[in-house]
Amino acid sequence: MCGIVGYIGTQAAAPLVLAGLQRLEYRGYDSAGIAVLHEAGEIVTERAVGKLLYLAARLELAPLSGHIGIGHTRWATHGGVTEENAHPHLGMNGEVAVVHNGIIENYASLRRELQAEGVTFTSETDTEVVAQLVERELAQSGDLAASVRAALLRIEGASSFVFISTRQPDRIVVARLGNAGGIVIGLGDRETFIASDIPAILKHTRKIIFLENRQLAVVRSDKIALSTLSGAPLEPEIHAISWDPVAAEKGAYRHFMQKEIAEQPRAITDTIRGRVNFSSNRVHLETLPLTVAEARELEKITIVACGTSYHAGLVGKFMLENLAEVPVEVDYGSEFRYRRPLVGKNNVVLAITQSGETVDTLAAMEEGKRQGAKLWSIVNVLGSQAQRSSDGYILMHAGPEIGVASTKAFTASLVDLYLLALQLGTQRGVLQGERLEEAIAALARLPQLAGQVAEEVEIYHRLAEIFYTRDHFLYLGRGPNYPIALEGALKLKEISYIHAEGYPAGEMKHGPIALIDRMMPVVAVATRDGVYEKMISQIEQVKARGGIVIALVEQGDELAAAKADYVMEVPGTTPFLAPILNTIPLQWLSYAIAVRRGADVDQPRNLAKSVTVE
Ligand code: G6P
Repeated sequence: MCGIVGYIGTQAAAPLVLAGLQRLEYRGYDSAGIAVLHEAGEIVTERAVGKLLYLAARLELAPLSGHIGIGHTRWATHGGVTEENAHPHLGMNGEVAVVHNGIIENYASLRRELQAEGVTFTSETDTEVVAQLVERELAQSGDLAASVRAALLRIEGASSFVFISTRQPDRIVVARLGNAGGIVIGLGDRETFIASDIPAILKHTRKIIFLENRQLAVVRSDKIALSTLSGAPLEPEIHAISWDPVAAEKGAYRHFMQKEIAEQPRAITDTIRGRVNFSSNRVHLETLPLTVAEARELEKITIVACGTSYHAGLVGKFMLENLAEVPVEVDYGSEFRYRRPLVGKNNVVLAITQSGETVDTLAAMEEGKRQGAKLWSIVNVLGSQAQRSSDGYILMHAGPEIGVASTKAFTASLVDLYLLALQLGTQRGVLQGERLEEAIAALARLPQLAGQVAEEVEIYHRLAEIFYTRDHFLYLGRGPNYPIALEGALKLKEISYIHAEGYPAGEMKHGPIALIDRMMPVVAVATRDGVYEKMISQIEQVKARGGIVIALVEQGDELAAAKADYVMEVPGTTPFLAPILNTIPLQWLSYAIAVRRGADVDQPRNLAKSVTVE
């Protein structure tokens, strides 16, 4: 969601903060701003509506000088997209500036209280309330950290904050209340960085402290004082980060999404690497400690996830129920926490989350834990909240995903789910012999097959040329390819703003069939599996009503190809791995259509990469 960056040290703060924000822009991009503690002792800010380049242009014309700065990219929640509502927000006397990620649920009553005392507001945001509260406290205590502590006692809702003040121009105060997105502190040589995401500061330091829920840090250029929100001192744990920041560059590609689709064979290989012994047919997930007895006692897995990760969960259900014979439920993070989920001992709540910071998924994990379930996660970001709060986790190894619409993290999480199903199936004694051998051999072939699919792009641009002006699309699939139909439709609506629906093909006759005409293309996922014949008859039902079918078929499948108007092809594999290959053409199709429509592929309107508010 909102991106946050802070700097304190010997260099000019504004350019470093801006560069950090540039790496976080995918989190939110409706407006941005920077505040710097100027040498003259005042806080100066620059803010601009729209993408960061507008802020950068303003800073070029009027640079901000000072060695302490904070910055923010916004994804609006309270108050429209205006310069007044862009962060940083200042207190009425200009003594405190804050950037914020999250929602202050009781901001309206706090605002009324402050207004009654004569405080004037310049924005419609919930955030400004905090700047005013801290400034009011500061007038009493003179200490920024103490004022932040006092102010946060009044606040409800999950949030992360970064403050600077003219009263104490040698420090930044960082605080976190709940799971509204992470905050990390990066230690440099007589300089310290703050960010909501590690990649923003990885160029400068690899020594990272994670700020946990209900912690506060007083950050100076050469020291950090970490404490609980109530003031008890804590010893910071410093983590060494070993990833490669170069992976987050666009390189020769036009869009991150294009690069990330093309990278999938590599991401799949990296996700399998080191976890499968292809000669002994063993899968070993080192970071998911589980004894054979525990695997056998496992009664249910409840998968919780949002967006694309939820679709991965739906495919995971097929894999886990078939290969490991364990019952699986799949729920949206945002729904799970508000119903009465029946989980408990011998149950696992498995979160799937690329970012590891999606607030609804984190809340669902908390609920699972409260009810006594074990917590597992499938995450792409090591060090994320989801990973850190899990009893066991499986990394996606997709590398940094920057395009807002998730692509390589989806297929990498499907590989993780498959590995989990293989490990559990073996441990539970239900997957062995020839069936296990075939399952592993198919996995060994997967990266090469994915390479073939990812390389072929021409056909999608041809299809885009034909269909890019359509207003509606229907995606059909069955079995493990039903979630792939959902994901194909989601990709199209996210990046091209075309209305698209994914439907289980067998349900079409109960409603969507009424929509079919020549103007609504039907994308049918019809690779060969247990329900292939049924898919073929559903294609015929569409054709019989004058519909246009774009079928995704196995290479050489002349029967399916003959029934369809247009064909996309993938090589054959097993029914459980087919969803991984089938995803890639649907990603390319949406990408090609979005490019043809001139849409902003990497940063679609209204969306954000990590959704850290409810
Ligand atoms: C946002 C992104 C989606 C993503 C979803 C869940 O909505 O735009 O691409 O699938 O969040 O994110 P997560 O990081 O939890 O997988």
